[in-house]
Amino acid sequence: MQLFKRRHEKKTQVDARLTHIAFIMDGNGRWAKKRSMPREFGHVNGAKNFKKVIRYCGDIGIKMITVYAFSTENWKRPQHEVDAIMGLLSDYIDDAVASMDENNIRLVFLGDKSIFPAPLRAKIDNVEEISKDKDLLLNIALNYGARAEITHACNTLIDAGKKNVTEADVAAALYTAHCPDPDLIVRTGGDVRLSNFLLWQAAYAELYFTDTLWPDLSTHEIDRIVADFYGRKRRFGGL
Ligand code: FPP
Repeated sequence: MQLFKRRHEKKTQVDARLTHIAFIMDGNGRWAKKRSMPREFGHVNGAKNFKKVIRYCGDIGIKMITVYAFSTENWKRPQHEVDAIMGLLSDYIDDAVASMDENNIRLVFLGDKSIFPAPLRAKIDNVEEISKDKDLLLNIALNYGARAEITHACNTLIDAGKKNVTEADVAAALYTAHCPDPDLIVRTGGDVRLSNFLLWQAAYAELYFTDTLWPDLSTHEIDRIVADFYGRKRRFGGL
């Protein structure tokens, strides 16, 4: 009889074809509702799973991860829910700073930071600065919307006096200028859309949609998603 649940043996290892994975972490609210709990409980468990998923992606050799943590549209949610998500993010930054020596994560926040109160902005700037030489890139999209990002990029280029722009100019003015486009975008929670996430960068990304609610996304399912990705033919418009 097996007394202890065996830990997930890691067989999956990725190569350069899967450098950058992005997640739309959807379904926290429904996960909580199924348990007759407030939505905030779903976000607490979503944040727990986020940490597990990041660790696992690093273990299997993924070098860059982007997560959609809070969109420009999420401000429409009740204030107590917004506060709960911001609190979890702030706690995550504190933990990342406290464990900076033991982990290898470079944190970068994508989105307009000017909206945040000065103490949170200072925290974000600090963690970005002190983690800048780490190897595993974790982009957290916060107050992020792809249309706002592209508009911001256009204004940056106009301010720089550009009269004609190339695709490379636009890419260099986006919040993601420091990394290549995602190879794979995974959305949990059952909806089949991008919801204003990485619209420019998604041009050639493989898309994967699962009904699994974000707090339930397991390492086994990530293995299956990776296997599915490797079964696809990426032609980038060629033959
Ligand atoms: C979508 O689920 C989730 C969010 C808008 C917030 C994501 C936040 C976390 C995973 C926790 C904090 C993150 C970090 C990085 C520490 P939903 O609320 O829209 O779920 P629903 O569609 O079931 O209502």
